Amino acid sequence: MERLVIEGGKRLTGSMRVHGSKNAALPILAAVVMAKEETVIRDVPNLDDIGVMLDILRSLGARVTRTKSDVVVDPSSIYTTDVPEYLMRLMRSSIFLMGPLLARFGTVRISKPGGCSIGTRPIDLHLKGLELLGAEIIERHGFIECRAPRLRGATIFLDFPSVGATENLMMAAVLAEGETIIGNAAREPEIRDLATLLTELGAKIRGAGDDTIVIEGVPELHGGIYQVSPDRIVAGTLMIAAAITQGHVQLHNVRLNDLTAVTTKLREAGVQVTGLHDIIEVKRTGALSAVERIQTAPHPGFPTDLQAPFMSLMTVAQGVSVISETIFEDRFQHVSELQRMGASIKVDIRTAFIRGKKELTGAVVEATDLRAGAALALAGLAAEGTTILERVHHIDRGYEGFEIQLRELGANIRRVREIGKDVHVTVDA
Ligand code: UD1
Repeated sequence: MERLVIEGGKRLTGSMRVHGSKNAALPILAAVVMAKEETVIRDVPNLDDIGVMLDILRSLGARVTRTKSDVVVDPSSIYTTDVPEYLMRLMRSSIFLMGPLLARFGTVRISKPGGCSIGTRPIDLHLKGLELLGAEIIERHGFIECRAPRLRGATIFLDFPSVGATENLMMAAVLAEGETIIGNAAREPEIRDLATLLTELGAKIRGAGDDTIVIEGVPELHGGIYQVSPDRIVAGTLMIAAAITQGHVQLHNVRLNDLTAVTTKLREAGVQVTGLHDIIEVKRTGALSAVERIQTAPHPGFPTDLQAPFMSLMTVAQGVSVISETIFEDRFQHVSELQRMGASIKVDIRTAFIRGKKELTGAVVEATDLRAGAALALAGLAAEGTTILERVHHIDRGYEGFEIQLRELGANIRRVREIGKDVHVTVDA
């Protein structure tokens, strides 16, 4: 059992490089199983979710090597398309393997992903799309089996621009016979990343990043080299960390255009944000103002993954902020924990009303999911006194060296492990 111990009140200053994107790397690691040869992927973050994906690839028979942030996947030795249930249970994103394995080997078997703490998260759009591409889908005993000797191109209109469904179907369509059109596609930057990788491997894709993607099927993919884009959610989290601590932080390896929604809202709150090339600088000198309205939305709207961190910021802003969550039905679990730290928040179904306070107070709080965990750590950085953040493993799914990065920027934060009743040792020194 590990926890973070945070002494609040330190201003964050200095510069930091943002690591590669988890949400881009996961589908990319799934996509490379479609190639005939090995692919080198650079700037793959060292995160628990990525580790699970690499274990799944190994369990299928692929040869996987990792040197620092480079991962090499040789899929030529894959001998099974059954994704082991215990690995599937560790990470929902293993569904990304459905499209690629089906397209390349004509069959795939996965266990049905359950809901998770932020919502039910069905995969109906993935399955409907695969059916339109000609797959036969059998769901029984908690497993999903898909079969199709060769997928056929089709026109697919997504009822909702799901990121995962767009990625899964784009990957499947790459090796299908003929043309596939995905309408109402997700426009998240990670879609563009995946399309660029697939194109590098020989796929023919137009329109990735727009709401209509056209894929011309090709018979096979070859190997290649690809550099993963920076993680915009990590960048956004660090930007908010700078703002909440009245800090001054420079972030390197960012894509400014991918951060427009969060940059706009930070400026509305009175934070200075400037950017040049791949560097963004965040500085706060005065008081924070409440932001009247934030509504999460598919890209280029405000990202749901930064909703919780931004709410932490608004707990110490002057005035009342209103934050609506439209993507996931149960993504306000950080609210009760923030309230333990003294935050004044009322929730009406999917809208939170936050009356900013001068200061939060440290408390023992619990991370319920990845981004909620990050949000609580940020609140701890700004709070008076000590915050103890339990269930920190959630944060390790999405932030590489989370507390180490924050400490390098001046935070007083350490990770401790319980080795006996009320006996803890520091583990990240
Ligand atoms: C991805 C991101 C996650 C982010 C989310 C929204 C990865 C690994 N994860 O998740 O960090 O929070 O996008 O930006 O990239 N839905 C359905 N049926 C489906 C698929 C989705 O109803 O078949 C619903 C979901 O329940 C949810 C909404 O659509 O309410 C958005 O989900 P989706 O865009 O698919 O998110 P993920 O790809 O799971």
